[in-house]
Amino acid sequence: MRVSVIGCGHLGAPHAAAMAELGHDVIGVELNPETVKKLQTGRGHFYENGLDELLERHVSAGRLRFTTSLNEAAEFADLHFVAVGTPLRADGRGYDVGQVVGAVRALAPLLKRPTTIVGKSTVTVGTVARLQEIISEHAGSDGVDLVWNPEFLREGYAVEDSLYPDRVVAGLTSPEAEKAVREVYAPILARGNVELIVTDPATAEVLKSAANAFLSTKISFINAMAEVCEVTGADVATVAYGIGIDPRIGHGGMRPGIGYGGGCLPKDVAAFTHRVGEIGATGAADLLNAVESVNHARMDAARDLVEKAHGGPLDTATIAVLGASFKAGTSDVRNSPALRLAGLLHSSAARTVIYDPESVTAARHLHPEYMYANDIDSALHDVDIVVLATEWPEFTKDAALPATAARAVRRQVLVDVRTAIDTAAWTAAGWTVHQLGRPVQQPTA
Ligand SMILES: NC(=O)c1ccc[n+]([C@@H]2O[C@H](COP(=O)([O-])OP(=O)(O)OC[C@H]3O[C@@H](n4cnc5c(N)ncnc54)[C@H](O)[C@@H]3O)[C@@H](O)[C@H]2O)c1
Repeated sequence: MRVSVIGCGHLGAPHAAAMAELGHDVIGVELNPETVKKLQTGRGHFYENGLDELLERHVSAGRLRFTTSLNEAAEFADLHFVAVGTPLRADGRGYDVGQVVGAVRALAPLLKRPTTIVGKSTVTVGTVARLQEIISEHAGSDGVDLVWNPEFLREGYAVEDSLYPDRVVAGLTSPEAEKAVREVYAPILARGNVELIVTDPATAEVLKSAANAFLSTKISFINAMAEVCEVTGADVATVAYGIGIDPRIGHGGMRPGIGYGGGCLPKDVAAFTHRVGEIGATGAADLLNAVESVNHARMDAARDLVEKAHGGPLDTATIAVLGASFKAGTSDVRNSPALRLAGLLHSSAARTVIYDPESVTAARHLHPEYMYANDIDSALHDVDIVVLATEWPEFTKDAALPATAARAVRRQVLVDVRTAIDTAAWTAAGWTVHQLGRPVQQPTA
């Protein structure tokens, strides 16, 4: 099929590349000309696992191109994905849907033949009905269908999840729209192990919000249990493991730490909390408010843990923070708990140096006032405390790191706020390890 992807950010760029990989001819439309210039070279404007390989392959094969011209996309494509941003409003009261409304409003009159618009952005319930009205009023042709197809990809696995989704949800109202969805996702659906959930638009909207609300609830639940363990001397990692064996609970999303962050969960939970409150679903609003407050509180708990690890006020401490991305596998630093913790430490420690294998540029852009290192050795040089804040494999899986890091630092004190390391490997190399909700692990060597 000839498809367009409107909005080539963290969702849109991997989606465009994945659509080309599935065999479609793809045009990506992006407002930002600098982004278009970069994508046209076959490279992403941010780091995402596996993205550059796919972009490179399909841009050079001519199957994927990028433009700032919506006109060009309207002429070219029979199906348009909308993947623009839905940031939280400045007052926190729901999404700013300006990008979605703007894109659909601009596209509709350019459509001169029956076409399908497939929305992928995360929106609150009621937005699709509003967009449907815009299309009915402004479309340049009859037969312009609207489908809401929420995206469940995980950053860090955006390419893999776009190519191998665990489900496809389509909120729609016409058989033509369903036919178009089945056609564009045919290579995925043909595998036979991916369910297509065809439903109405309101259900698709709520389903996506509910998925993120549930994930955040799970994360906050285990972090609340970490709080209980901190007071009682219990070990939250064992608690998480033990309760997760029950298939009704499961192990996914159960790693204790500094809470959820990124470009999605914080804003999606906040927007959903506001919306459910607005419609009078008070049980849901109370639950989600609690989820948010547990998440915020973990940041102070993490800062206190660093202070405890140091053995007193941090103003005499020099600290290396390993990680700035909100999670491993991406350079995304939006609402990054790692960077927020680094900020707290920056304002209270003698010196805080941040290192991340992929996101130093993005972090520096957002917070030029912090100090960054371009490599791990200079970050670790002569510090009193190492804080592991993003679970990159080079920090958690490199068997040589505990020993090499030991030679660089002044004191072997590690604070792992992601519960991500092999504690035995670090303690065996002489480190004292502090983790949220776990007893301190003393060096064994
Ligand atoms: N990032 C994720 O992992 C993820 C996962 C699932 C859902 N989502 C949802 O997808 C949507 C996009 O998220 P994102 O993280 O990619 O945001 P983003 O800010 O990274 O990307 C949005 C892009 O759209 C562009 N844009 C805005 N208006 C445009 C227009 N009229 N024409 C062309 N381009 C336009 C912006 O310049 C920007 O590059 C959001 O609703 C988000 O909640 C994101």
